[in-house]
Amino acid sequence: MGKDKSVIHVVGTGTIGEPLIGLLCSFKEQAGFSEITFHKRSPIARDLPKMRALVARGAQLCVDEDRMNDFEVLGLKPALTHEEALAKADVVIDCTPSGVGISNKNEFYEKYLPTTKGFIAQGSEFGFGKMYARGINDQALEVGRDRFIQVVSCNTHNLCALVNTIALVDGEDNLEEARFLCIRRANDISQVSGFVPAPEIGKHKDPVFGTHHARDAYHVFRTRALELNMWSSALKVNTQYMHCIYFTLKLKRAVTKDEVFGRLRADERISMTKKQSAGEVFSFGRDHGYFGRILNQTVIVESSIEVRKGHEVIGFCFTPQDGNSLLSSFSAVMWFLDPTTYVEKTKCLRPYFFAEV
Ligand SMILES: NC(=O)c1ccc[n+]([C@@H]2O[C@H](COP(=O)([O-])OP(=O)(O)OC[C@H]3O[C@@H](n4cnc5c(N)ncnc54)[C@H](OP(=O)(O)O)[C@@H]3O)[C@@H](O)[C@H]2O)c1
Repeated sequence: MGKDKSVIHVVGTGTIGEPLIGLLCSFKEQAGFSEITFHKRSPIARDLPKMRALVARGAQLCVDEDRMNDFEVLGLKPALTHEEALAKADVVIDCTPSGVGISNKNEFYEKYLPTTKGFIAQGSEFGFGKMYARGINDQALEVGRDRFIQVVSCNTHNLCALVNTIALVDGEDNLEEARFLCIRRANDISQVSGFVPAPEIGKHKDPVFGTHHARDAYHVFRTRALELNMWSSALKVNTQYMHCIYFTLKLKRAVTKDEVFGRLRADERISMTKKQSAGEVFSFGRDHGYFGRILNQTVIVESSIEVRKGHEVIGFCFTPQDGNSLLSSFSAVMWFLDPTTYVEKTKCLRPYFFAEV
């Protein structure tokens, strides 16, 4: 299946939208995109530098028709209205907060199904479409049928990568039980609200899965017809640098510590580290990553890995902020454009996978 045009439209310029627009612009040539457009909802003066920088990188600003004048007053010249951009787009990536993506789907996206190849939403937009994490359930994507994809959250990517690489590599029936404690950063370095002054315990809202992290990971594997036994808990700690995850995977078949390291090192999605501080790992990304981001799905703390009683793999790892969601979003875009070449086309991001941090 070929493509004759490839206009990518991003809705939202927040914590995930802004770097995603930048990433699409940086790899425009390699990926073969003809245009990158983005929708900005609020005409806010403090967001002017961000909008100008994105335009300078080659993206086109789109706004709601009734806000055109407000943006012009700020000194910006929107290239298109939002509806014009939606009508042109081959792929739309919704990067709005939880709940908005679903209402955008109902209000706008369904209308553009005849002219758009696909729609992608982020993290918390449960129910938007088929859940996806690159390299975990690509085989579940159905050409022509899956027009809506939900790229799962950064921590869900991490959980999926751990289960896939440590357990399922030795058979899809190999996981007895997985338990995760997601020790979350309070907020992103780009965010001004939501910081917590002290550790704050998350509710177990789901009696089967605990928090949404295990629930979402379950649903990713469900697309592969697997029903895995998983539980997650979460707490927020008063830092802005990297989520950490404590995990225990009980395997049906015995494994040695050397075998666990062998499985982890054989997987390009996984990074290993001798560092123990999130600050040091984050800082490595700042110096060597894509605009500060490493795109691996998880960073395993080598000294924390242990095998207990031959069947229980225990350890800690870090979640590379939003890098894994950005990678899966890029991969999903390329899949919508051409499912026969998307794996090859996504390889341009390989310089930002690190076997070791
Ligand atoms: N933060 C992360 O690291 C991360 C990682 C992975 C996935 N995610 C997921 O990504 C999604 C977005 O999160 P975020 O942290 O990027 O949010 P955010 O920083 O709050 O940004 C939200 C953006 O959406 C826009 N927006 C809000 N309501 C809108 C509406 N009704 N129509 C159009 N645009 C609207 C806002 O525009 P204005 O500011 O112009 O009003 C803003 O640009 C969430 O589902 C989240 O779970 C986040």
